[in-house]
Amino acid sequence: MTRAVIVGSGSEIAPTRVTNAQMARIMDTSDEWIRERSGVEARHFATPEIATSDLGVAAAEKALAAAGVAKAEVDLVVFATMTPDHYFPGCGTLLQHKLGLRTVPCFDIRQQCSGFLYGLQLADAHVRSGLAKTVLLVGAEVHIGFMPWTRENYAYALGTSDVPPTKEEWDWNSRFRHLVVLFGDAGAAVVLRAAEDGERGVLDHELHGAGADYEKLYVPGTGFKHRPYTDPEQFKRGDHIPVMDGRHVFKMATTSMVEVARSVLQKNGVAPDQLKLVLMHQANQRINEYCAKALGLREEQVPHNIHKYGNTTAATIPLLWDECTRDGRLRPGDLVLMVAFGAGMTWGASLVRA
Ligand code: ACO
Repeated sequence: MTRAVIVGSGSEIAPTRVTNAQMARIMDTSDEWIRERSGVEARHFATPEIATSDLGVAAAEKALAAAGVAKAEVDLVVFATMTPDHYFPGCGTLLQHKLGLRTVPCFDIRQQCSGFLYGLQLADAHVRSGLAKTVLLVGAEVHIGFMPWTRENYAYALGTSDVPPTKEEWDWNSRFRHLVVLFGDAGAAVVLRAAEDGERGVLDHELHGAGADYEKLYVPGTGFKHRPYTDPEQFKRGDHIPVMDGRHVFKMATTSMVEVARSVLQKNGVAPDQLKLVLMHQANQRINEYCAKALGLREEQVPHNIHKYGNTTAATIPLLWDECTRDGRLRPGDLVLMVAFGAGMTWGASLVRA
């Protein structure tokens, strides 16, 4: 039997670290509120010259080096992001070009926080069917373009300007405070290779999509439902910034992540304590604590890094994989469950032997 084995990983964190206290300089929030409600202590944002594909490229370079795989061997690219450099084309071919890969097929995945797991299933299906032997799977995001503040406000937050926000700017920034404090910018990548008859590799997946509640988490503007697809009025209304009903998403995420995790474990005859690690999407530490408790997991089985990076959407799971590989928490042969929930709504779980 052919299986797709994760043979290397890499990650790249955006350079500018922004603490909760810095966010509180330009909107009505506090370090205490953000920590307590989400677990986020800081996030990193990209500088203006860095786009999503650049974080993806840097992460992919490291993943290929860690895997000992030459660029010429890559025969498929899968790139998951909700913040592509351009409306079109997607980041897949941009990464292919910047990395100097052959003219291999490049897929762009649009499933937000579940993007990495959707990409993993696609990569695995290509490997199992013999269509690909070496796949570069990337999740990367530059969310800072969603942030509502002006350049001057941002400089004030970072301490490089003495000009505080006006009352209008403060109120405008505060309107989005429940959302903007959660996100950060990063890229992470894994290399998958076909292997015959071994124990290691991607074992199973279960993915779901349900559009009924899509307006609970979406970007109302800058889409082709509008003619033209973008205009100054949309920006004045703030329709380019995501809308999120946090409580609704929280409830759906906890229910769906527990259900899908149980289902994959049951189908594969795996008990929770047989798992070395459960890599959960990092949207909110409270969501993950709830899921870990419901699944009966021990604390050391559920690594987290949301406190350092916030929610990096498609990058969270490969970023955790990479960190745990580098610090020795994850070793070849370990059994790992990955679980995510994101806008769409979309959710899923993948069982992998590292
Ligand atoms: N700072 C201070 N106060 C705030 C902030 C803030 N940043 N944000 C909201 N508040 C206030 C609210 O205005 C509200 O005040 P009120 O009681 O006076 O009305 C109060 O805090 C409570 O607000 P809630 O929204 O009920 O707070 P909650 O405990 O639900 O936490 C949060 C909000 C963190 C957003 C949480 O609901 C959450 O994490 N939800 C899920 C997010 C998620 O998983 N997103 C999916 C991934 S993103 C993707 O796929 C693109």
